[in-house]
Amino acid sequence: MTTSTTQQSARAFLAGLRKEISNHAGVGHSVLGRMATDARTREHFKILSGQHYPLVANFTGYMELLLLRAPNSEAKCWLAKVLVDEYGERSEGQDHATIYRTFMAAAGHNPGDEERVPLHPEVVHFIREHQRICTEEPFLVGLGAVGPGHEWSIPTMFEHVITGLRRAGFADREIEYWTCHMDQDQDHGAWLEEALAGYCDTPESQEQVRRGALLSLDARERFWWGVADKINSSMTKNLIPGFVTATASAERDQPTYEQLKQQLKVTISLGGRG
Ligand SMILES: [Fe+2]
Ligand SMILES: [Fe+2]
Repeated sequence: MTTSTTQQSARAFLAGLRKEISNHAGVGHSVLGRMATDARTREHFKILSGQHYPLVANFTGYMELLLLRAPNSEAKCWLAKVLVDEYGERSEGQDHATIYRTFMAAAGHNPGDEERVPLHPEVVHFIREHQRICTEEPFLVGLGAVGPGHEWSIPTMFEHVITGLRRAGFADREIEYWTCHMDQDQDHGAWLEEALAGYCDTPESQEQVRRGALLSLDARERFWWGVADKINSSMTKNLIPGFVTATASAERDQPTYEQLKQQLKVTISLGGRG
């Protein structure tokens, strides 16, 4: 194949992958779709944000692991460009976890308590699975997870969340974390697509990228089920005073993010494209 034919095949593969991702249950989960129909309150978003915070706080960690494993400077540049934004380049020097904590305070968390929320097992699974993908799987599987798996899917997911936030009465300045990603992640997705276009030149490399994206989105679907479980348990408690759901009674054994971080250890092999 000529270089331009190879490029066309890579771009066609990526276009097909974008379509597949937009139809994935992790991106169109009922928790998201029903933001436009169900009554949503600040209390619901307090619960959602407590579970979502570890995903926000850990995201740059996955990219930093991939940066170490990237096979050449060009791939490192695309990853670094995204990282610089995540560290706060386009948000007045505030990294995205800091902006998220502003939202958490608006949702009812006491500042400083963000890492002391009992985490649903699906939240823990999400973090562990992504750490595994970015350290044990080939580099392109990791790139599929953070690029198509995250940056391509976030604008769609967040659009749903923003609908629910506005219906729950949040002001624009309180939900900046969510709104700023509508623009930034369009760029991040495009930058990572440039990195991917150079690699998706064989059926094997395409399969690795697709596998990474789907592993990430499968974990995302499970994460949303975990959020739904926590919200439903709280609603049941409010409707039937004194009734304790299994989800609520399990909380005493669930780790907080503060505790989970103590257990997370990484070992990586710097073997290049792999
Ligand atoms: Fe971000
Ligand atoms: Fe991003």
